Amino acid sequence: MNIIEVLNYEEMSTRAFKLIRERLQSNPALKLGLATGSTPIGTYKALIQSYEEGEISFEKVLSFNLDEYVGLEVTDVNSYRYFMEENLFKHIDIKKENTFVPTGKAKDFVKECAAYEELIAKSGGVDVQILGIGSNGHIGFNEPETSFNSLTHVVDLDKRTIEANSRFFHSINEVPNQAVTMGIGTIMKSKEIILLISGDNKNEAINQLLSGEITETFPASVLHQHPNVTVIINQESYLT
Ligand code: F6R
Repeated sequence: MNIIEVLNYEEMSTRAFKLIRERLQSNPALKLGLATGSTPIGTYKALIQSYEEGEISFEKVLSFNLDEYVGLEVTDVNSYRYFMEENLFKHIDIKKENTFVPTGKAKDFVKECAAYEELIAKSGGVDVQILGIGSNGHIGFNEPETSFNSLTHVVDLDKRTIEANSRFFHSINEVPNQAVTMGIGTIMKSKEIILLISGDNKNEAINQLLSGEITETFPASVLHQHPNVTVIINQESYLT
C-alpha cells in the first residue's frame, strides 16, 4: 500500500487526477471504477478541465460505479446516476452507453446484481478503481462485517452512513436505508485502486487503516491484501 499524505483537498484531488490522467493516456480504453460522495468531486473537476484542455479523452472509456441507492429513480437528484451526470459525465466525451451505475430500481435485485458483476467481468475488469471511505471504514457501501468475498449485492445501510449522507437530503427520513453495491470481492478484483480520504469524522478511520490490522469489522482494511493500492490522505481530515 502506497500512502501519500497531502496538505489539503486540492492537493489530494490533483494527485489523484494526475494518476488517472497517466493511466488514461497510456490506455485510452481504460475501465474506470468510480465513486460518488464529496471526496472525489475535486478529482472529477480536474479531469473535466484536462478534457477541456484536450489532454485526455473518455471516448473509449468504460465506467463502472460502485453503488446506488435502492428505490431512487435515475432522475432523482440524490441518485448516484444523477450525481455522476452532474459531476462528470455531462462535461466530458464519455459515451452514455459506456457508463454503468447499478440500478436502484429492480424487480429482481439478485438477478441485477449478478448481471452487474458479469458486465464488469466481461469488459475485462476494472483497471483503476477510485474509492472514498466512510467514517466506519466502509468502501462502496460495504458496511462493517461484510464478507471480504462478497460480490455485488443489496445492503442495509449502517446508521452512521445514513446520518453522514443525510446532508444531501432534506431530512434524514428521506435517506434510503438500502443500497446496491459492488462487493468487497468485486472491488478487490480491480487491477489498481486509488483510495482518497478526506472529510469530517475520518480521523478514526485513517488511524484504523494505518494500523495495518486486517478485519471484516473494518472493510477498508482488506486493501492491505491488494497488490496495487495508492491511498491519498488529506491531512486536514485529522483535524475533524
Ligand atoms: C460512494 C461510496 C462511499 C463513499 C464514502 C465517503 O460511491 O461508495 O463509500 O466513498 O461514503 O463519502 P464522502 O466522500 O462523501 O465522505
